[in-house]
Amino acid sequence: MKKSSRESWSGQLGFILASAASAIGLGNLWRFPYLTAKYGGGIFLLVYFLLLLTIGAMLMTTEIALGRKTRLSPLHGFGKLVKSWSFLGILFVAVSAVILPYYIVIGGWILKYVFAYAFIPQEITDAAHPANTAFFSNFISNPSQSLLFAGMFFAMSALFIVMGVKNGIEKMNKILMPALFFLAIAIAGYVCMQPNAIEGIKYYLVPDLNKFYVETNGTSHFSFTMLCKTIVAAMGQMFFSLSLAMGIMVTYGSYMKKSDNIENSTWHIEFCDTIVAIIAGLMIIPAAFAFPPAGQTGIEAVSQAGPGLLFETLPRVFTQMQAPKMITLSFFVLVLAAALTSSVSMMETLQSSIKDKMKWSRKKSVTILSVYILIMMIPHSLCYSNACKGFFSKKILGMEFLSLNDFLANSVLMPLGAFALCIFVGWILKPNFIIREIETKGNTFKLKKFYSLTIKWIAPIFIAIILVTCILSGLKIIDI
Ligand code: PFF
Repeated sequence: MKKSSRESWSGQLGFILASAASAIGLGNLWRFPYLTAKYGGGIFLLVYFLLLLTIGAMLMTTEIALGRKTRLSPLHGFGKLVKSWSFLGILFVAVSAVILPYYIVIGGWILKYVFAYAFIPQEITDAAHPANTAFFSNFISNPSQSLLFAGMFFAMSALFIVMGVKNGIEKMNKILMPALFFLAIAIAGYVCMQPNAIEGIKYYLVPDLNKFYVETNGTSHFSFTMLCKTIVAAMGQMFFSLSLAMGIMVTYGSYMKKSDNIENSTWHIEFCDTIVAIIAGLMIIPAAFAFPPAGQTGIEAVSQAGPGLLFETLPRVFTQMQAPKMITLSFFVLVLAAALTSSVSMMETLQSSIKDKMKWSRKKSVTILSVYILIMMIPHSLCYSNACKGFFSKKILGMEFLSLNDFLANSVLMPLGAFALCIFVGWILKPNFIIREIETKGNTFKLKKFYSLTIKWIAPIFIAIILVTCILSGLKIIDI
């Protein structure tokens, strides 16, 4: 395919909206509130913001600039720049290829809740009601149900991909993103007006440095371990939430026009992503503090890892709050919209990589990608059921297939890719390569000195620490 025939966004706004839509996903609505509650509320927010404004912004700028420079998706683009570094493109694409199938399966779970809340009469209280604990376990252990809903979510994502960059992805984002934003504000407003919500709001928003102090033998002292744990969690969240090291920003950058300002766009994307994460915290943390499920404190209710928070605790919290069905339904519709726009961005990254590498048409690469996704959806959907005599539910390293891939992508491949990216850009291509791309067509790069320092030193050192810590904690050698 000739370079000039590459599709492009209609303008800078289209690019910002699409990238923000990719960034705003389950990471904001589910992972962020849970991590914030677990790591001390306001103090986690503070650490997260610092990372976002430094390492996060510089890495996002790098990925977008690399995409725009090569006008290629990562699988082909990195190798085009320096042949021996094509493995980096493979690594980025591998992250997406591992995450996408399970993200789609989780998207199917959300779709199931949207259906359940839309069609089940309010009077039902037995296991058919989504607020019943048995509802979720019954659903995920039913192979045909989880496959059916994952298939529906996949079909919705694929539809926008087939329609292309401007007519599919951009149009979808123009409708779903504002809708998502207004729904989130409305739900957060409703939750924050509940009696007792203020305790959760305070815990969430006011940084308390005492969270870094622990008591031993009656004396309180600063805990370096607590600080490290918070930084590791915030950094992992930042990568996931900004869709970094997945190849998405490289791909979306490759559709960006030369005259558009990369530095400005980065700040806009980060701003949108963070605002939605903050609002998500305001929907979830005060709700759980005001109406914790029986036998749990607010913090315990929110800070549980895994699907429990979204699919078991929150429906119960909303029921206890006696929220109108419309509120709970809107909540799941909003989560669905966020998951859909993110999964579309990842699917686009993968299809674009296949298309650039094989020089195929969009239709052909989407078809091949669909076959891969449909096959991979099977073990991810069936790993919580007894299907095939429990073949798919066998645990590896103590994790189900879905959790194992989540660990592999987020704790191993993603930090590895981010580290390699810093070395590639900081030491092989050199920061000036990126700075020149950002400054094309008269644009300025105000933070270029800070950029060079970050990409060569600060980011790789931090990421290396995160990588080692994540692997050790995943293997249960340390507790973080
Ligand atoms: N930034 C996205 C999120 O917060 O959910 C990360 C992501 C995951 C994007 C999976 C796309 C995707 F398919």
